[in-house]
Amino acid sequence: MKRKKITVAGAGNVGATTAFIAAQRQLGDIVLIDIVKGLAEGKALDMAQASSLCGFDSRISGTTDWAQTAGSDVVIVTSGMPRKPGMSRDDLLAKNTEIVKSVTQQIVKYSPNSFIIVVCNPLDAMVNAAAMISGFEKNKVMGMAGALDTARFAYFISEKLGVSVNDIKCVLMGGHGDDMVPLARFTTVSGIPVTELIDEKSIANMVQRARMGGIEIVNLMGTSAFYAPAAGAVTMAESILLDKKMVMPCCAYCDKEYNVGGCYVGVPAVLGAGGVEKVIELDLNEKEKQELAISVGHVKELVDIVKKHI
Ligand code: NAI
Ligand code: 2OP
Repeated sequence: MKRKKITVAGAGNVGATTAFIAAQRQLGDIVLIDIVKGLAEGKALDMAQASSLCGFDSRISGTTDWAQTAGSDVVIVTSGMPRKPGMSRDDLLAKNTEIVKSVTQQIVKYSPNSFIIVVCNPLDAMVNAAAMISGFEKNKVMGMAGALDTARFAYFISEKLGVSVNDIKCVLMGGHGDDMVPLARFTTVSGIPVTELIDEKSIANMVQRARMGGIEIVNLMGTSAFYAPAAGAVTMAESILLDKKMVMPCCAYCDKEYNVGGCYVGVPAVLGAGGVEKVIELDLNEKEKQELAISVGHVKELVDIVKKHI
């Protein structure tokens, strides 16, 4: 069987960690690419030298040359500036649109049949940018944020209850911003609604902490998170490459779904060999619908700005 090929664009904190986790899960051979000469090459060599110790056979190479990425099955786009203290994800818009544009053009040229998983921020706007620039089918372009935001929420719940984090399943919708919409009433602990186990005020505090999960880490260490984001991106790639059909929130194309009207936003979806195979529609209550509409409205405002840059 031919090995799968995964390209990770950007060899910074998220990109390098993504490559290393993907190698440890043996998802295929990995090409790490960056514009900074030596950076991807050095990190890839270091990771490759860990392979016998970590027990993986995935090959990892680093490059600045997009020709080396040709024929990738999945391209994970982490190339872009991260937030510094005091910056919002939206502050990154202009610069990262430029980066996503140049990276997407290379993906189209060298891996026209790939799935694109965008990670760089502002996430939903950058997914829409990659979709517009690539012209790829809608199921082939998506973004990683919900996996991270729900993982954060799940961790807070597991800490509070003292139970396995693996038993916690969360749903979250909307854009990857402060107005994201975690849906506590669809969150379960081994099938038990979390609302049966934790009081309303504590849940509200955890929802708020998940919403602010990114900035909490930026304020602690001066740059944005990378271990959990990388694990989120690799889990999405894994579900596609192994056709696992996992149900997880991701930034996916919605038109009639949730009345979004033609935009990539965070929704629960099935990820398999067909990429985003299905967007799952939940019966939201009025409050949830309103919150989602506000979040989608914000994403659309950013997409309008993105259109001026591409
Ligand atoms: P970083 O600064 O450590 O790495 C970014 C890398 O991209 C740098 O090495 C840079 O040289 C490279 N790069 C820039 N332009 C490039 C190009 N045209 N081609 C290839 N490489 C290029 O940043 P970090 O921490 O890895 O974050 C990356 C992005 O991911 C940021 O935009 C950050 O905000 C975002 N992020 C998104 C999350 C999410 O949940 N969606 C979570 C965490 C980070
Ligand atoms: C995060 O949520 C900054 O988007 C990044 O950690």
